[in-house]
Amino acid sequence: MTDLIPPHGGVLKDLRLTTEQAEAAKTAAVDYPSWDLTERQFCDLELLANGGFSPLAGFLGQADYERVLAEMRLTDGTLWPMPITLDVSEALAETVSVGDRVALRDPEGVILAILAVSDQWRPDFEAEAQAVFGTTDRGHPGVAYLHERSHPVYLGGRIEALDLPGHYDFTHLRLTPADLRARFARNGWRRVVAFQTRNPMHRAHVELTFQAARQAEANLLIHPVVGMTKPGDVDHYSRVRCYEHVLQKYPEQTTALSLLPLAMRMGGPREALWHAIIRRNYGCTHFIVGRDHAGPGKDSQGEEIYGPYDAQEMVTRYADELGIEMVPFRMMVYVQERAGYAPIDEVDETSETVMNISGTEFRRRMREGLEIPDWFGYPEVVAELRKTFPPRARQGVTLFFTGLSGSGKSTIANAVMVKLMERGGRPVTLLDGDVVRKHLSSELGFSRAHRDLNIQRIGFVAAEITRNGGVAICAPIAPYAATRADVREMVEAANGGFIEIHVATPLAECERRDRKGLYAKARAGQIKGFTGIDDPYEAPVDPELRIDTTDSTPEEAAQQVLLKLEHLGFIDLS
Ligand code: PPS
Repeated sequence: MTDLIPPHGGVLKDLRLTTEQAEAAKTAAVDYPSWDLTERQFCDLELLANGGFSPLAGFLGQADYERVLAEMRLTDGTLWPMPITLDVSEALAETVSVGDRVALRDPEGVILAILAVSDQWRPDFEAEAQAVFGTTDRGHPGVAYLHERSHPVYLGGRIEALDLPGHYDFTHLRLTPADLRARFARNGWRRVVAFQTRNPMHRAHVELTFQAARQAEANLLIHPVVGMTKPGDVDHYSRVRCYEHVLQKYPEQTTALSLLPLAMRMGGPREALWHAIIRRNYGCTHFIVGRDHAGPGKDSQGEEIYGPYDAQEMVTRYADELGIEMVPFRMMVYVQERAGYAPIDEVDETSETVMNISGTEFRRRMREGLEIPDWFGYPEVVAELRKTFPPRARQGVTLFFTGLSGSGKSTIANAVMVKLMERGGRPVTLLDGDVVRKHLSSELGFSRAHRDLNIQRIGFVAAEITRNGGVAICAPIAPYAATRADVREMVEAANGGFIEIHVATPLAECERRDRKGLYAKARAGQIKGFTGIDDPYEAPVDPELRIDTTDSTPEEAAQQVLLKLEHLGFIDLS
């Protein structure tokens, strides 16, 4: 193993205790304050413990943190671009002092590591965002994370790991830095070029990696991130199944696939440096940096946050210290006349025809069940993705009726349910306002907080039904726009459709009907905080469908809903 590239900082860290030490540490930890790791911290801990973050030996202390922010260096001068911090709640911070030990637990409560607290401080998230991401715009997912998900206090200190965090999925592909280094040594791979990705791989990626390996005269490591990536990305289970297909396209014995449990920050240039350091720790000598590496996309003003080749420039600037060599690539495009791929800067667009399908266009075609040309994707990969993203006619969908009490929500929802059941094809569940309040939210009242909780619960159940390909029909009042927006987000994140139907029957008509006699009671002051009377209803601004039942029968209203479903491609009425 002596001729492999040395890790960053010279020594590959392994923060794991021996079995006996781990047993003793576990017993002692019974008396320690404890912290349940967040998803990001769980990922960071794994890479700290297995040496992927060498030379770090724990979560950053304040002095290291400040120098990393200001100069991308640890206090000893070592290049380190990304703050690896342990953010905890005020409640925990109040019970912990410098010198204490804290047990770090996984979501099931298993103790994974002990933190010896050397520092405790309250970071300035705005300053951290500006330093690390070059922006304070909340459209940057890294910035949004700091403000919306980070806890207010940072604890720094060395880590002793009882074990590596456990995984049940793709265990044969989860190689640690030591595992990969041993494998490279065993196979005589002295030059290895790593390819980082958070997306499914298509022909352009394979062509790019072929060319990179040829150029670097190196073997290839496909090293996709399976920790946390950009919100909205394809889930890692689907992606890894795609990578396994793609692996077959490379000549045998030239290419390896291994999964990286990294929590990305989408930090563009700084993140590219960090990725290069991590790949060096995994034993790679070369690292591909393409267009817009680890790019967060656009900010809230619609402007690109980083330039497409900022990351390449940053890595070039630190080339000497990095030790791992960058293989820079321009965007790969398909050139019709060559019937093959080439970097865009090597194409003469005046005489050659360049073809490309953007990520957005690819997703649109998948959603609508349209063809994906062979020059773009491998049929096996496309088939794999179609299982995860079936065309709308096979996707789950949530029909979310909202409107005043007595507006006709339940009546239409019932009619639509029956008509969908009559057609068959998908399981249908009705989450009617009254029914939910009886079975799911029986302890809740009608304060804003309780109404929100009620709608969040409906949203959670609807998202699960949708995720599994069913139709969820919801019919609560749902008077608040922000809560409805949350539900839309939950359902869409479950790879399904969300159709908001505003049952816009005017208050006067609802009150005239007063089927339950509640409006009369509300007017008489016997019910307080009644929606439309002395509690607000924020009408949807842009629902998929608006129905006023004043002059239409339930049959007609249900028909309007079915036609909308057909128009959007969720059912086929023909
Ligand atoms: S919410 O706001 O979405 O949580 O409301 P929801 O769960 O849909 O509650 C609907 C039924 O509760 C009855 N009810 C009230 N509605 C509004 N405001 C107050 N204060 C209230 N108290 C009881 C009412 O019958 C609602 O039924 P629908 O089906 O909408 O007529």
